[in-house]
Amino acid sequence: MNRPHNDTFLRALLRQPTDYTPVWLMRQAGRYLPEYCETRKRAGSFLQLCKSPALACEVTLQPLARYDLDAAILFSDILTVPDAMGLGLYFSEGEGPRFERPLREEWAIRDLAVPDPYDHLRYVMDAVAEIRRALGNSVPLIGFAGSPFTLACYMVEGGSSSEFRQVKTMIYDRPDLMHRILSVTAEAVTKYLNAQIESGAQAVMLFDSWGGCLSAAAYQEFSLSYMRRILAGLVRERDGQRVPSIVFTKGGGLWLESIAESGCDAVGIDWTVDIGEARQRVGQHVALQGNLDPNVLFASPEAIVRESKAILDAFGPNDTGHVFNLGHGISQFTPPEHVAVLVDAVHEYSRCQRQKNSACQLLA
Ligand code: CP3
Repeated sequence: MNRPHNDTFLRALLRQPTDYTPVWLMRQAGRYLPEYCETRKRAGSFLQLCKSPALACEVTLQPLARYDLDAAILFSDILTVPDAMGLGLYFSEGEGPRFERPLREEWAIRDLAVPDPYDHLRYVMDAVAEIRRALGNSVPLIGFAGSPFTLACYMVEGGSSSEFRQVKTMIYDRPDLMHRILSVTAEAVTKYLNAQIESGAQAVMLFDSWGGCLSAAAYQEFSLSYMRRILAGLVRERDGQRVPSIVFTKGGGLWLESIAESGCDAVGIDWTVDIGEARQRVGQHVALQGNLDPNVLFASPEAIVRESKAILDAFGPNDTGHVFNLGHGISQFTPPEHVAVLVDAVHEYSRCQRQKNSACQLLA
């Protein structure tokens, strides 16, 4: 297989030695980039952008043209899966994602079926293949999906929510229905991620954006157990290369030990945990990805450099198994030039850490 020329990201996920700490940013292709807004306008809407492989490829590459990033992430959305399950996804201006047919009735939940990723989600597989061709041997491509619980939040609430009233009512009153939604969705996500791997994705990530809203017991039963099921069903190797997996539960800091034992290769952490302590807690099992507060990117270049060095120092110098990232997606209001400051600071400082070069001014 044609290995990526820069495979630092894959090596760090597998806890192999690297010359520096690799970095990419959640939502790195997005509205903070004027060229993204221009392409989205050309597409007509966000959803049409996702559904056009050529344009999805174009926006995936935009942040890589500007910054020295160590990975590309497929441009798509976690909600393509429930859309393919027939819920009717649409985005209304200022309101975020919505479903025409949220899951409220027992019959609709009983009728849920697993979509064929090569049929209903063909446009995603086409985008993955096209992006891989365009990337050539430069950097690895990350595929992704939402966790079953996070997808269920949108499917049951019908859109974004702050309290998750309907989802939690279902968890406590009708756990059988919630388990039905989660098991069909887990199977859909497993097939979807395996199809992305088959189409060329070289690592995969599960976004569990809302698992952190659950009680400790409910997190295990309704979120982590289904992610574990997906991880157990993933294709682990393609063309002789391991395909690493990353699990990111936002707000999951209290449960890092059990997330680390879910069968993933790396755990994503938000900014509420100290990455050095997280590393102690997960031991040698997994790599860590994170964890700069995305709001640091609003501050001065000096603050950005200081805060990113603090994370690299906390993880520990001269060590592997860290992929630098934000603790959540980049804000649309981020000044694009601040992203360059971050990426370059991570690269330069982590190289210095490895070399223990006393002449390196950055270490001072
Ligand atoms: O990281 C990347 O660059 C890849 C692309 C990506 C998007 N969404 C593009 C997107 C990824 C990985 C996602 C995942 C996603 N989508 C999550 C999990 C990560 C997280 O943020 O917690 C969630 C919860 C969604 C659902 C979703 N999609 C929401 C809530 C929204 C509205 C957000 C907002 O700020 O308005 C979206 C839309 C969306 N997905 C945008 C992008 C670039 C903005 C759409 C636009 O151009 O208007």
